[in-house]
Amino acid sequence: MCGIIGYIGPKSIVPVLVEGLKKLEYRGYDSAGVAVVDGGTVQIRRVLGKIAVLEESLRADPLQGVYGLGHTRWATHGRPSERNAHPHIDCTGELVIVHNGIIENYLGLKKRLREEGHAFRTETDTEVIAHLIEKHFRGDLAAAVRAAIAELEGAFAIAALSSRDPRKIVVAKHGPPAVVGVGEGETIVSSDINPILGHTSKVVFLEDGDMAVIDAGGAAFTDFQGAKVEKKVETIGWNPLMIEKHGFKHFMLKEIFEQPEVIRDTIMGRVSLDEGEVLLDEVGLSAETLASVRKAVIIACGTSYHAGLAGQLFFETWARIPTTVEYASEFRYRDFLLEKDTLVVVVSQSGETADTLAALRACKPRAAAVVAVTNVVSSSIAREAQGVLYTHAGPEIGVAATKTFTAQMTALALLGLYLGQTKGALEKKALLEILEEFQRLPHKVERVLSQAKAIEDLAQRFVHFSHFLYLGRWVSFPAALEGALKLKEISYIHAEAYAGGEMKHGPIALIDEKMPTLAVVPRDRVYEKMLSNIAEIKARAGFIIAVAGAGDAEIGRHVDVVIPVPDAHPLLSPFLSVVPLQLFAYDIAARRGADVDQPRNLAKSVTVE
Ligand code: AGP
Repeated sequence: MCGIIGYIGPKSIVPVLVEGLKKLEYRGYDSAGVAVVDGGTVQIRRVLGKIAVLEESLRADPLQGVYGLGHTRWATHGRPSERNAHPHIDCTGELVIVHNGIIENYLGLKKRLREEGHAFRTETDTEVIAHLIEKHFRGDLAAAVRAAIAELEGAFAIAALSSRDPRKIVVAKHGPPAVVGVGEGETIVSSDINPILGHTSKVVFLEDGDMAVIDAGGAAFTDFQGAKVEKKVETIGWNPLMIEKHGFKHFMLKEIFEQPEVIRDTIMGRVSLDEGEVLLDEVGLSAETLASVRKAVIIACGTSYHAGLAGQLFFETWARIPTTVEYASEFRYRDFLLEKDTLVVVVSQSGETADTLAALRACKPRAAAVVAVTNVVSSSIAREAQGVLYTHAGPEIGVAATKTFTAQMTALALLGLYLGQTKGALEKKALLEILEEFQRLPHKVERVLSQAKAIEDLAQRFVHFSHFLYLGRWVSFPAALEGALKLKEISYIHAEAYAGGEMKHGPIALIDEKMPTLAVVPRDRVYEKMLSNIAEIKARAGFIIAVAGAGDAEIGRHVDVVIPVPDAHPLLSPFLSVVPLQLFAYDIAARRGADVDQPRNLAKSVTVE
């Protein structure tokens, strides 16, 4: 899930590319590179590692140019190395491309191109694209790109330039995202809006099958056959300041502390306490579609899947709709059965996750409707779903999702209440109580955040442990899963989450003094059951940290350490219990000196399978 960027305009090209790549780095950080053209000469600089390494190399030995391309890599084909870093070139070195995606038929193409005399320098799939364009180049770069992409199988967002058709960048999209920023006298293409925000808020989102030909005059849009296509210019409400750290050491910590605001912003304008109503007409589900819904399927990956598990409980309890939750990467390859009375909800922070997008496409012709819960305006999933419920979390830069998990739970709760309200499954009084509880939630999260120092001191005692168990039951199970994922992702410590009742069926064998347990134990319908699971662990000398209700005078007798969180409506407790788990993971990773915002081997948006 690489990041590509290109720019034509009056600004000095190298700083534009480097600053842009910094804003794309969360998409992949195995290697990076830029290519700039100056007076007909293409100059390239590639490095192994992060943008900072590239920046240092360019400071030591600057490049001059008037326009160019840049790339930050998440390696799929060919190990991370300077040689496999993008941009890639053709045999002449005059044609350059950057690519995000996977070319599935690259081996066959490479063999054929080799037989035709092309010399390959790298192990990558991407390099075949440069040689294919070279093969078809007759002076018109756009025509050559069209001919080349006609031979490609797989996913690609590419940008190409050639010193033999100067002052032009040609972009083609099939799968991974590509956005064109149309500024005053300047045009910038990128994998997402973050690098564009510093130049313009006017953007065009390319669809699959779109191309953009960019020159000093701006961008012209065509399809893959060269026919002109009309594109809508959208204005983005996010601003560049939103992607700054504002004094926090890491984006992840800043984003954890943004959660009270994120809940307020995601509820904003969608709840009327006076009427005791949820206002979600924006989702665009007609009355008859809503009436026809008898079942729901929530589909997602990673953290979004965990939010989906909480959504399942919201839908079943408040809307009385049987709901299942599916891993998109599994669901899309199953011979799944989907009846016409099923509402499909796809959840994705980035709105670009390939497996979730594919599951959406597979469900659309068969479901009552497909609704997307996503954080990125006009992302592919938002554009292709039949209804969209945006989470208003603002840009999330830390690769480990935190505030978007909370925003997704907020959106899914609103959707569950809305379905309950419209289907008459939820009494007005009960609905109002929950809405009032929701209004109190941001302040309660602030109270949890005020314990950050105490949680940091606690985490310090566990920096050297190599295994952790997370436990939760019912609505706390998704929070436990999320806590374990955060610790795994950013500290590289092995952590497993289990539903408390499952312990006896195997995982309890893991318990010893080297395997601490984090148990999420609010006073709810499974409290007593959790106490028994805790007793089973204590019986085997396990050390237990409990995230429990502040008013709970009992729990302290059963565990070693208690992290108190304010009591809340039983179904809203994960909004509070997940915060100490996020902080605990953050503190351990930060103390271990891990790269918290850009953990190894990960990327913020998984745009290939
Ligand atoms: C979470 O911290 C990870 N970044 C990852 O599991 C993520 O949730 C998953 O890739 C899904 O991404 P999405 O929400 O953008 O679809």
